[in-house]
Amino acid sequence: MEKREKIILVTGSTGFLGGAIAQRLLVSGCKLRLLIRKRDNDSSQISFDSEGLFKELIQGHHLDEYTQEQCRLAGGQINDNKSLPELFFSNVEIFDGDITSSSLGLEKQEYKRLCNEVDEVFHCAAITHFEMQDADEHVAVNVKGTENVLQFTNTGGKKRFHYISTAYVAGKQNGLICENEMVDEPLFNNEYERSKFVAEQLVIKYTKSNDIPYTIYRPGIIVGDSQTGATCKFDNIYLFVKVLLNINNSFIKQKSENLNDITIRVPGDHNALINLVPIDYVADAIVAILKKGESIGKIYHITNPNPPKLCELRDLVMAILGINGMHIKIDKSLETQNLSTVEKLFLRQTRSYYSYLFSKLRFDDSHTQEILKGSGIICPAMTKELVAILIDFAVSHNWGEGKRTLLEKV
Ligand SMILES: NC(=O)c1ccc[n+]([C@@H]2O[C@H](COP(=O)([O-])OP(=O)(O)OC[C@H]3O[C@@H](n4cnc5c(N)ncnc54)[C@H](OP(=O)(O)O)[C@@H]3O)[C@@H](O)[C@H]2O)c1
Repeated sequence: MEKREKIILVTGSTGFLGGAIAQRLLVSGCKLRLLIRKRDNDSSQISFDSEGLFKELIQGHHLDEYTQEQCRLAGGQINDNKSLPELFFSNVEIFDGDITSSSLGLEKQEYKRLCNEVDEVFHCAAITHFEMQDADEHVAVNVKGTENVLQFTNTGGKKRFHYISTAYVAGKQNGLICENEMVDEPLFNNEYERSKFVAEQLVIKYTKSNDIPYTIYRPGIIVGDSQTGATCKFDNIYLFVKVLLNINNSFIKQKSENLNDITIRVPGDHNALINLVPIDYVADAIVAILKKGESIGKIYHITNPNPPKLCELRDLVMAILGINGMHIKIDKSLETQNLSTVEKLFLRQTRSYYSYLFSKLRFDDSHTQEILKGSGIICPAMTKELVAILIDFAVSHNWGEGKRTLLEKV
């Protein structure tokens, strides 16, 4: 009997990680069903038609630069006879949906058909910012939405379930975190972490009790592509760099204050570990793991085995930016002291990330290293060259501000 390509339902494919995963799955020969929220009339949003989504997901994700070699590393085979547009239009079907609805926002017949034809579900959609104090949206999308996707997985034919969690379900703990189910609920830095923890627990409980084969992936803090710097998200490290450059432009260059030689104190611990992982490593590793049967029932940390310390990252960034006269002092007890105008500005704009500047979490990634052995998929070190590539992309793409363009997608 002729082997049929796998059909995978992907949620979150318009996002940073979901898009990178979808492109790799497509090139490796899978048929995709993409559950995508319909766009409103905002012209900065991508269009919902196939043509628009093709541009967004394929051209916008630099798939042309995604070589056959990379695809093979990820365990896939390229269909050499088909061009990329042909692959997209013949192997991708788009569904207007929303995971917060129990039917995933699909028509009854559509839901039923998808339930029966899909072999695997790749659930990546989530609310990912941590600014909001109100936990309702995080719960609705990250917890209830995950429950709805699990129910879909459990309806109709037997399906495998892949869930994108986060390494930071570990919350405010310290020390080494293993690739195991969390036994006790830790304290959390924000509602995002809490909602992802609750959702991960739900995934484990639901899949075990319904005999659904599952795999959980816990990425670290994802940054741009290690070769090109390409990213469509400019949060975490990008925000800090952007604020530093803004301060340089408005205060130092224009000498609006006497700031020829200033020290900006930022809260944090010199030895905090900042677990940055490039998107290409995260997506390649996940797709390679997803293709292996032995990953069923396991949790994988897709993290940096050698994350930079906060002080090392500070030194790299400052050396790359080359701002004369500005010094960053990491100060453990800063909030209790008097702040200068510039320090207040810096603090206000980056506040939601501060807890991570104290993090001593280390992530054991033995499961990941074991399963990727011999694949050639290795997490790139955060060298000065790599950090420079990331910053360069962000600066040259104006931090993703203004109209979202194709180039700004990974
Ligand atoms: N980025 C990181 O550093 C990082 C680190 C660890 C784990 N993760 C996890 O990785 C996953 C992807 O993160 P990301 O950074 O790629 O996020 P992202 O760029 O913000 O993308 C989120 C995706 O979820 C979709 N989505 C949100 N609400 C939805 C809803 N109600 N129904 C259907 N789709 C919905 C979004 O669709 P729209 O385009 O319509 O908004 C988008 O496609 C998340 O589960 C996140 O927790 C991310």
